[in-house]
Amino acid sequence: MTGTQIELVVAAVEESAHAVRTVRLVAPDGAPLPSFVPGSHLVVDCGGRSNAYSLVGESIAPAEYAISVLLVEDGSGGSAWVHGLAAGDRVSALRPRSAFAPIASATRHLLVAGGIGVTPVVSHLRAARHWGRDVQVLYVFREGHGAHVDDVKELAGDAAEFFGDRVGFTERLRTVLAEQPLGTHVYVCGPGAMIDDVLEAATEAGWPASRVHSERFGLDALDPGEPFRVTLTETGTDVEVPSGTSLLEALEGVGLDVPNLCRQGVCGECRIPVSAGTPLHRDLYLTDEEKQACDAIMPCVSRADGPTLEVPL
Ligand code: FES
Repeated sequence: MTGTQIELVVAAVEESAHAVRTVRLVAPDGAPLPSFVPGSHLVVDCGGRSNAYSLVGESIAPAEYAISVLLVEDGSGGSAWVHGLAAGDRVSALRPRSAFAPIASATRHLLVAGGIGVTPVVSHLRAARHWGRDVQVLYVFREGHGAHVDDVKELAGDAAEFFGDRVGFTERLRTVLAEQPLGTHVYVCGPGAMIDDVLEAATEAGWPASRVHSERFGLDALDPGEPFRVTLTETGTDVEVPSGTSLLEALEGVGLDVPNLCRQGVCGECRIPVSAGTPLHRDLYLTDEEKQACDAIMPCVSRADGPTLEVPL
């Protein structure tokens, strides 16, 4: 990796929940690490491929970067690589980046977490406690598989509710969405299907998209997507992007050399402009504002939301 790369050393590894390890990373010289925006992730070079993991610790001049990683048995190997780390190992990463920051103007924050998606929520909770922000938490996880449950209890107190079943969670979610005061923003992180459910419930309850923020994890499990056509306006060439082929692969297929590193939607290297059409953003790099502007796309993971897209290449 290049650019904003930092070198870190593993200080400790802990089993923090079933199949979840928390890895504490420090600077080789023990100096404080760069501060980060709550909800940020660290892009880690996992032995040749890059994965993004949310930071769960303190965000201001932290002594360590802590990440909690669920072992994904049939994943691409990134989580297994992290689970193989031991104290003293060296790790390369990019400086923390946020695509899931708390909105400063929000009067209240409703944090919704599913499974290991609790990790950025823990970071948001630390910030909320630090700044005295008004928060509410709904956290759903399989019994015996809850990570950071004690942290959430300690940081949120009575403002946190825990669920072991989807039905009970969904019922409560609909009630909570309906009773939020104006000025509340919703943040949801978890498996894709759970995020889709929360977004749908928020839309049905009349929430504007600008007040609902989501972060998907498990990019390994991205669906193949719908086919679409991209027009390269510089040459007037049309390129078909079939289901299961990324836009980046399709562009490479016609001889375009798009810089890229992670091919996971986390490093930002492959960003290209969009001149017409609506992108279906699936990356962890662009901010909410950048995604809403619809003038850029990360072609390694994102696609068109519709039959066509135009890029000035
Ligand atoms: S190659 Fe890293 S975001 Fe696309």
